[in-house]
This record gives sequence, structure tokens and C-alpha cells, in this order.
Amino acid sequence: MPKLAARMSRARPSAIMAVADKAKQLKAAGRDIVNFSIGVPNFLPGEHVYAAVREALARDSGQYGSNRGADALLDAFLVHLEGSGLGGYTRRNVATAIGAKHVLYNLAEALLDPGDTMAFAVPYWTTYVDIAEIVDAKMRLMPCPASQNYKLTPDQLDRALPGAKLFLFNNPCNPTGMVYTRDEIAALADVLVKHPDTWIVCDDIYNRMVFDGIGYHNFVNARPELRDRVIQVDSISKSYGMPGWRVGFVAGPENVAQAFVTLNSNHITNLPEIVTAAAVAALTGPQTITEHKCAEFQARRDQVHAAMNAIPGVVCPRPQGAFYVFPDVSCAFGKRHGGHVIASDVDLCNALLDAEGVACVPGSAFGDPNALRISYTCPPAQLADGLARFRRFFADLDASGHIEATAARAAG
Ligand SMILES: Cc1ncc(COP(=O)(O)O)c(C=O)c1O
Repeated sequence: MPKLAARMSRARPSAIMAVADKAKQLKAAGRDIVNFSIGVPNFLPGEHVYAAVREALARDSGQYGSNRGADALLDAFLVHLEGSGLGGYTRRNVATAIGAKHVLYNLAEALLDPGDTMAFAVPYWTTYVDIAEIVDAKMRLMPCPASQNYKLTPDQLDRALPGAKLFLFNNPCNPTGMVYTRDEIAALADVLVKHPDTWIVCDDIYNRMVFDGIGYHNFVNARPELRDRVIQVDSISKSYGMPGWRVGFVAGPENVAQAFVTLNSNHITNLPEIVTAAAVAALTGPQTITEHKCAEFQARRDQVHAAMNAIPGVVCPRPQGAFYVFPDVSCAFGKRHGGHVIASDVDLCNALLDAEGVACVPGSAFGDPNALRISYTCPPAQLADGLARFRRFFADLDASGHIEATAARAAG
């Protein structure tokens, strides 16, 4: 039998989906599960989006469309960019794809040759590693533990960039929820200016989900001379409650946007007309749902952050965006729960799911095995219940397993 391509032995299915699937199976089997695992916004778009879809259905041409994206959609995105202080782009600087994941995949194809180096911070969104592996790029990881608030420092960046073809930046960050302030962005931008051979890809899909009034800032605002190398990634998935509609955007130099036209013309061809109409309505219509959700997520952030920090030993930097909290739970390692020794983040997430029916994603899926990710978009009653179960799990940890586990690790 012929073999699959070598790249398929490097590609792995999403680790986040694995936890979500296990939680789903337990739920189907009748268990009472609180799902903190999956990063979906858990709200639907406004009625104006559905009205636009009905109208588009009535006049659907059923034909192939533009490989770059319909003009109305490109224009709607350009207006959003302008609102973020990123004026001066034209239709030739932008393109669309099937969600931000597809944008990132296209970018990897367009910018990286096999063996090229891509630099990014740890914790990272899992797909960065998977895409790098599929296109056979080398990864240069910059560890940003809880002790530095999960944020990249200018010095780390400066040391990592020589020889890197691409720097991938994620702000606000999944899984940590961290957001870089104006000053922090400016300091990183100063470093980027010193490394002219590196593309800068900004995965800023949570840019409308920023709390505490700190605002969303980007490298082009900070240092306009970076514009020729900065590539912005955006999506309607998280901010408009539309993850399944699959619309993503890229903005950058003309040759990068043109590469999307070439790639899209050879695989997806175009976004469907109906989906395009929905995305235009989301971007150009009332932004009240997005604003309301952002305020609601900020309140939930407070609730989850307070609950985590009330657990002795758990260290939880305070996120300022997206809808994730990423506590360092390494205080539990080596302890025992229900007779099982918790030796790792994966053990902890499995025990938490088995004992309390709470599904979280192990931090190792994001490159940080000391932590786990909580996505807090579930209904409010479930959130309070899940946090109470989480607290109970930690209260039930028995330190008597600690010595045994430490001894076993030393022996093994
Ligand atoms: C940081 C980050 N980038 C990109 C994506 C992909 O988003 P999309 O649904 O637009 O493909 C996600 C989705 O979870 C994400 O968290």
C-alpha cells in the first residue's frame, strides 16, 4: 500500500479537541460535566446578521467569487483596521480565508520554506506548532512563564530574532489572556526595527476583547516603519460569536495579500456568498453584542481570577483580554487525589474530569506543563459551579502522595 506523505507523521490532531471530545463523551454517557475546555464564545450573532443572510439567500448567484474576497467584505475589514489606527491600507493589502487558522496556514505556505525558523512565545496557541511541523519549519521558542506574567520581554525577543524568518505574536493571547500595554508594544516594536529580515505576524483575533480600558495596540502604530513587514491576522470567530462561519482576514504588504489570492485560487477558491454577507453584516452592523460580551467577560475574568488566587499554591496572573485564564497549578504535582498521584498537568486534568466532571486543557498543549487553561464562556451558573468543584478538587488533594511521587521520579 502506498504511504502517506512524510508531513502527515509530523501533523497531530488538536490537543484541545481531544479534551473537549472526552468531555462530550462523558456528558453523552450521563455525567454532569462543566466544560472549561473549548475556546468558543458561546453566543450567537445579532439578528442583523441573520437578516443579511436571508437577504443574500434571496439573491444568491451561486457562482464562484473573488479569490481575494468580495469587495464589500474587504472594505468592511479596511474600516475595522482604520478604527484600530491601521489606516492607509487598500483592497490590495488585504485578503480573506476560511478563518484565522486558514490565514495562518496560508501565511506559513507563503512565507516559510522548509527549514526556515519561526519564533514565538511560550505559552502559545497549539496550532502554531502544528502548522510549523506540517510546513517543516524550525521553531524558536521563547519561554514566558507565570513569573513574568506570561509576557515576552524585549530582551528575549532581541535574542531570539537573529536568523528567524518569521516572528509570530499573539495579542491578546490564547491561552493566557494576557494583553500587551501601549508601552510594552512600543518596547517590542523598538526591538523589531533592529531585525529587518524577519516577518512579523500578529495574530490579534481577540483585539475586540480587551478589558480594563488598556486598549488594543499594535506594532505599526508604535513604529510605522514596520508596516512593510507586519502582517495582521483577524477573524469574526470570537468577537461576533461566529466560529463556525469560518471567515478570517489578513492585512499586510501587497505581495503577501497577493499570495493569498494565488493560494486561495488553488484550494478554497472563495468564501461562499452567504457567509460573506453574514461577515459584512457582523463587521458593519451594530457592535453592541460584542461590546456587551466584552464587558461580561471582564466580569467573569474577575470571578475566575479571584477563585484561582483563593486556592493556596495556585499562581494566576491576571488576564486582560480574550476569555481564558491560565493558572500555574504546579503546586498540585506530586500530591494525591482519590488514590491517584498527580504527576503532571495531564494527570491533573484527567483527575479533575474524572472526579469533579470539570474539563480543562492541560498547559502542555500550549507548551507550559505547569499550568492549565480555563475557558470561561460557559453559562454563568455553570461557571460558579465549575469553580466550586475546582476549589473542592484542590482542597481534597492529599500531600501524603508527595514524597512517594518525588521518590518515584527520582528512581525513574
Ligand atoms: C490565537 C488564535 N488564533 C487563531 C485562532 C483561529 O481562529 P479561527 O476560528 O478564525 O480559525 C484561534 C482559535 O481558537 C486562536 O485562539
